[in-house]
Amino acid sequence: MTTALPDWAHGLWPAPPDSRWRSLDTVERRVRFQPMSEDDLDTVHAVETSAYGHPWTRKHFRDSLQSGHPSVMLLGQPLPGEQPAPARADGRWLMGYFIAMAGVEEVHLLNITVAPVHQRQGWARFMLDALALWSRGQGAQALWLEVRESNAPARRLYESYGFEAMGLRRGYYPLTTHQREDAVVMCLRLPASARVPA
Ligand SMILES: CC(C)(COP(=O)(O)OP(=O)(O)OC[C@H]1O[C@@H](n2cnc3c(N)ncnc32)[C@H](O)[C@@H]1OP(=O)(O)O)[C@@H](O)C(=O)NCCC(=O)NCCS
Repeated sequence: MTTALPDWAHGLWPAPPDSRWRSLDTVERRVRFQPMSEDDLDTVHAVETSAYGHPWTRKHFRDSLQSGHPSVMLLGQPLPGEQPAPARADGRWLMGYFIAMAGVEEVHLLNITVAPVHQRQGWARFMLDALALWSRGQGAQALWLEVRESNAPARRLYESYGFEAMGLRRGYYPLTTHQREDAVVMCLRLPASARVPA
Protein backbone atom coordinates (compact mmCIF):
# COMPACT_ATOMS: atom_id res chain seq x y z
CA MET A 1 0.00 0.00 0.00
CA THR A 2 1.27 3.45 -0.90
CA THR A 3 0.32 6.80 0.56
CA ALA A 4 1.09 8.57 -2.71
CA LEU A 5 -1.61 10.79 -4.11
CA PRO A 6 -3.94 8.99 -6.47
CA ASP A 7 -3.15 9.58 -10.14
CA TRP A 8 -6.62 10.89 -10.77
CA ALA A 9 -5.97 13.71 -8.35
CA HIS A 10 -3.45 15.19 -10.75
CA GLY A 11 -5.97 15.95 -13.43
CA LEU A 12 -9.56 15.49 -14.29
CA TRP A 13 -10.85 12.38 -12.60
CA PRO A 14 -10.86 9.69 -15.30
CA ALA A 15 -13.79 7.57 -14.16
CA PRO A 16 -16.67 7.41 -14.81
CA PRO A 17 -16.13 8.71 -18.36
CA ASP A 18 -18.58 11.57 -18.04
CA SER A 19 -17.20 12.86 -14.78
CA ARG A 20 -15.61 15.96 -16.30
CA TRP A 21 -19.03 17.45 -16.19
CA ARG A 22 -21.38 16.80 -13.35
CA SER A 23 -25.01 17.76 -13.03
CA LEU A 24 -25.14 17.53 -9.26
CA ASP A 25 -26.03 21.21 -9.00
CA THR A 26 -29.12 22.52 -10.70
CA VAL A 27 -26.84 23.29 -13.66
CA GLU A 28 -23.73 21.59 -14.96
CA ARG A 29 -20.49 22.56 -13.32
CA ARG A 30 -17.06 21.50 -14.38
CA VAL A 31 -15.08 20.04 -11.47
CA ARG A 32 -11.70 18.48 -10.99
CA PHE A 33 -9.67 16.92 -8.23
CA GLN A 34 -6.31 18.39 -7.37
CA PRO A 35 -3.82 17.55 -4.64
CA MET A 36 -3.69 20.01 -1.76
CA SER A 37 -0.42 21.78 -1.08
CA GLU A 38 0.77 24.16 1.60
CA ASP A 39 0.01 27.04 -0.80
CA ASP A 40 -3.68 26.11 -0.52
CA LEU A 41 -3.87 26.29 3.26
CA ASP A 42 -5.32 29.82 3.46
CA THR A 43 -8.21 28.88 1.19
CA VAL A 44 -8.70 25.47 2.73
CA HIS A 45 -8.72 26.87 6.24
CA ALA A 46 -11.21 29.57 5.21
CA VAL A 47 -13.59 26.84 4.02
CA GLU A 48 -12.92 24.71 7.09
CA THR A 49 -13.80 27.49 9.53
CA SER A 50 -16.88 28.50 7.54
CA ALA A 51 -18.20 24.93 7.34
CA TYR A 52 -17.49 23.42 10.71
CA GLY A 53 -18.05 24.41 14.32
CA HIS A 54 -15.02 22.37 15.35
CA PRO A 55 -12.54 23.19 12.60
CA TRP A 56 -9.11 21.71 12.11
CA THR A 57 -6.30 24.17 12.72
CA ARG A 58 -3.83 25.06 9.98
CA LYS A 59 -1.37 22.86 11.88
CA HIS A 60 -3.65 19.84 11.47
CA PHE A 61 -3.66 20.38 7.70
CA ARG A 62 0.06 21.07 7.54
CA ASP A 63 0.87 17.96 9.60
CA SER A 64 -1.31 15.85 7.31
CA LEU A 65 0.40 17.19 4.21
CA GLN A 66 3.83 16.67 5.71
CA SER A 67 2.86 13.11 6.64
CA GLY A 68 2.04 12.45 3.00
CA HIS A 69 -1.61 11.67 3.63
CA PRO A 70 -3.68 11.79 0.44
CA SER A 71 -5.16 15.30 0.59
CA VAL A 72 -7.41 16.16 -2.31
CA MET A 73 -9.33 19.30 -3.21
CA LEU A 74 -12.50 19.39 -5.29
CA LEU A 75 -12.29 22.48 -7.46
CA GLY A 76 -15.22 23.86 -9.38
CA GLN A 77 -15.53 26.20 -12.26
CA PRO A 78 -17.60 29.24 -11.30
CA LEU A 79 -20.82 29.48 -13.20
CA PRO A 80 -21.74 32.69 -15.07
CA GLY A 81 -22.68 35.37 -12.56
CA GLU A 82 -21.30 33.49 -9.56
CA GLN A 83 -18.73 35.08 -7.30
CA PRO A 84 -16.15 32.39 -6.59
CA ALA A 85 -15.57 32.75 -2.89
CA PRO A 86 -13.31 31.43 -1.56
CA ALA A 87 -11.48 31.69 -4.82
CA ARG A 88 -8.04 30.38 -5.53
CA ALA A 89 -5.48 32.29 -7.52
CA ASP A 90 -6.50 30.34 -10.63
CA GLY A 91 -10.10 31.56 -10.24
CA ARG A 92 -11.47 28.11 -9.43
CA TRP A 93 -13.76 27.64 -6.52
CA LEU A 94 -12.70 25.40 -3.65
CA MET A 95 -15.88 23.37 -3.24
CA GLY A 96 -14.55 20.85 -0.78
CA TYR A 97 -11.73 18.51 0.13
CA PHE A 98 -10.89 15.28 1.85
CA ILE A 99 -7.87 13.94 3.68
CA ALA A 100 -7.28 10.26 4.24
CA MET A 101 -4.65 8.04 5.77
CA ALA A 102 -3.70 4.75 4.19
CA GLY A 103 -3.09 1.75 6.44
CA VAL A 104 -2.72 -1.99 5.94
CA GLU A 105 -5.70 -3.09 3.85
CA GLU A 106 -7.70 -0.13 5.12
CA VAL A 107 -7.99 3.60 4.65
CA HIS A 108 -8.96 6.06 7.36
CA LEU A 109 -10.91 9.17 6.39
CA LEU A 110 -9.59 12.04 8.50
CA ASN A 111 -11.51 15.00 7.11
CA ILE A 112 -14.19 15.59 4.49
CA THR A 113 -15.69 19.03 4.10
CA VAL A 114 -17.92 20.78 1.59
CA ALA A 115 -18.10 24.59 1.45
CA PRO A 116 -21.47 25.70 2.89
CA VAL A 117 -22.68 27.23 -0.38
CA HIS A 118 -22.23 23.84 -2.10
CA GLN A 119 -23.71 21.60 0.57
CA ARG A 120 -26.68 19.31 -0.09
CA GLN A 121 -25.78 19.05 -3.76
CA GLY A 122 -24.17 15.61 -3.61
CA TRP A 123 -20.53 16.70 -3.52
CA ALA A 124 -19.63 14.82 -0.35
CA ARG A 125 -20.98 11.63 -1.92
CA PHE A 126 -19.00 12.46 -5.06
CA MET A 127 -15.80 12.72 -3.01
CA LEU A 128 -16.62 9.51 -1.11
CA ASP A 129 -17.05 7.75 -4.47
CA ALA A 130 -13.59 8.91 -5.49
CA LEU A 131 -12.04 7.94 -2.18
CA ALA A 132 -13.71 4.52 -2.16
CA LEU A 133 -12.54 3.82 -5.71
CA TRP A 134 -9.01 4.89 -4.94
CA SER A 135 -8.97 2.92 -1.66
CA ARG A 136 -10.15 -0.22 -3.42
CA GLY A 137 -7.44 0.30 -6.01
CA GLN A 138 -4.90 0.39 -3.20
CA GLY A 139 -6.10 -3.00 -1.98
CA ALA A 140 -8.04 -1.61 0.97
CA GLN A 141 -10.95 -3.68 2.20
CA ALA A 142 -12.48 -1.06 4.45
CA LEU A 143 -12.83 2.67 4.95
CA TRP A 144 -12.87 3.80 8.58
CA LEU A 145 -13.69 7.11 10.19
CA GLU A 146 -14.68 8.78 13.44
CA VAL A 147 -17.50 11.29 13.62
CA ARG A 148 -18.74 13.45 16.48
CA GLU A 149 -21.83 11.93 18.03
CA SER A 150 -23.60 15.33 17.64
CA ASN A 151 -22.70 15.73 13.94
CA ALA A 152 -26.06 14.68 12.55
CA PRO A 153 -25.45 15.80 8.92
CA ALA A 154 -22.20 13.85 8.67
CA ARG A 155 -23.64 10.76 10.38
CA ARG A 156 -26.60 10.86 8.01
CA LEU A 157 -24.21 11.14 5.05
CA TYR A 158 -22.14 8.16 6.16
CA GLU A 159 -25.15 6.01 7.04
CA SER A 160 -26.81 6.74 3.73
CA TYR A 161 -23.55 5.88 1.96
CA GLY A 162 -23.35 2.47 3.64
CA PHE A 163 -21.04 3.05 6.61
CA GLU A 164 -21.94 1.09 9.72
CA ALA A 165 -21.47 2.26 13.30
CA MET A 166 -18.93 -0.06 14.92
CA GLY A 167 -18.57 1.49 18.37
CA LEU A 168 -17.90 4.59 20.42
CA ARG A 169 -14.68 6.26 21.50
CA ARG A 170 -15.53 7.93 24.79
CA GLY A 171 -14.42 11.56 25.12
CA TYR A 172 -12.50 11.42 21.85
CA TYR A 173 -13.15 15.02 20.78
CA PRO A 174 -12.76 18.28 22.71
CA LEU A 175 -16.11 20.07 23.05
CA THR A 176 -15.55 23.01 25.40
CA THR A 177 -12.69 23.83 27.71
CA HIS A 178 -14.03 21.40 30.27
CA GLN A 179 -16.06 18.92 28.23
CA ARG A 180 -15.36 16.25 25.69
CA GLU A 181 -17.56 14.49 23.16
CA ASP A 182 -17.77 10.85 22.11
CA ALA A 183 -16.83 9.72 18.61
CA VAL A 184 -18.84 7.18 16.67
CA VAL A 185 -16.50 4.82 14.84
CA MET A 186 -17.86 3.90 11.43
CA CYS A 187 -16.74 1.45 8.77
CA LEU A 188 -17.53 0.94 5.10
CA ARG A 189 -16.61 -2.50 3.78
CA LEU A 190 -15.07 -2.46 0.31
CA PRO A 191 -15.49 -6.00 -0.99
CA ALA A 192 -13.55 -6.55 -4.20
CA SER A 193 -16.58 -7.56 -6.20
CA ALA A 194 -18.91 -4.86 -4.93
CA ARG A 195 -19.72 -1.77 -6.90
CA VAL A 196 -18.98 1.51 -5.18
CA PRO A 197 -22.34 3.15 -4.35
CA ALA A 198 -23.38 5.64 -7.06
C1 LIG B 1 -21.14 16.54 6.24
C2 LIG B 1 -20.87 17.25 4.89
C3 LIG B 1 -19.46 16.87 4.42
C4 LIG B 1 -21.92 16.80 3.87
O1 LIG B 1 -21.58 17.39 2.62
P1 LIG B 1 -22.68 17.57 1.46
O2 LIG B 1 -21.97 17.80 0.18
O3 LIG B 1 -23.67 18.59 1.90
O4 LIG B 1 -23.38 16.15 1.45
P2 LIG B 1 -24.21 15.54 0.21
O5 LIG B 1 -24.91 16.65 -0.50
O6 LIG B 1 -23.32 14.65 -0.58
O7 LIG B 1 -25.31 14.73 1.03
C5 LIG B 1 -25.42 13.33 0.95
C6 LIG B 1 -26.41 12.88 2.01
O8 LIG B 1 -25.91 13.16 3.31
C7 LIG B 1 -27.00 13.50 4.19
N1 LIG B 1 -26.86 14.90 4.61
C8 LIG B 1 -25.91 15.77 4.20
N2 LIG B 1 -26.09 16.96 4.84
C9 LIG B 1 -27.16 16.81 5.64
C10 LIG B 1 -27.84 17.66 6.56
N3 LIG B 1 -27.44 18.93 6.76
N4 LIG B 1 -28.89 17.18 7.24
C11 LIG B 1 -29.30 15.90 7.06
N5 LIG B 1 -28.72 15.03 6.19
C12 LIG B 1 -27.65 15.49 5.50
C13 LIG B 1 -28.26 13.31 3.37
O9 LIG B 1 -28.65 11.95 3.50
C14 LIG B 1 -27.74 13.58 1.97
O10 LIG B 1 -28.54 13.02 0.96
P3 LIG B 1 -29.81 13.86 0.38
O11 LIG B 1 -29.31 15.26 0.11
O12 LIG B 1 -30.17 13.10 -0.84
O13 LIG B 1 -30.83 13.83 1.47
C15 LIG B 1 -21.00 18.79 5.05
O14 LIG B 1 -22.20 19.08 5.73
C16 LIG B 1 -19.85 19.43 5.77
O15 LIG B 1 -18.85 19.80 5.17
N6 LIG B 1 -19.98 19.58 7.12
C17 LIG B 1 -18.92 20.21 7.91
C18 LIG B 1 -17.71 19.32 8.03
C19 LIG B 1 -18.06 17.96 8.62
O16 LIG B 1 -18.87 17.83 9.52
N7 LIG B 1 -17.38 16.93 8.09
C20 LIG B 1 -17.52 15.58 8.58
C21 LIG B 1 -16.64 15.38 9.78
S1 LIG B 1 -16.67 13.68 10.31
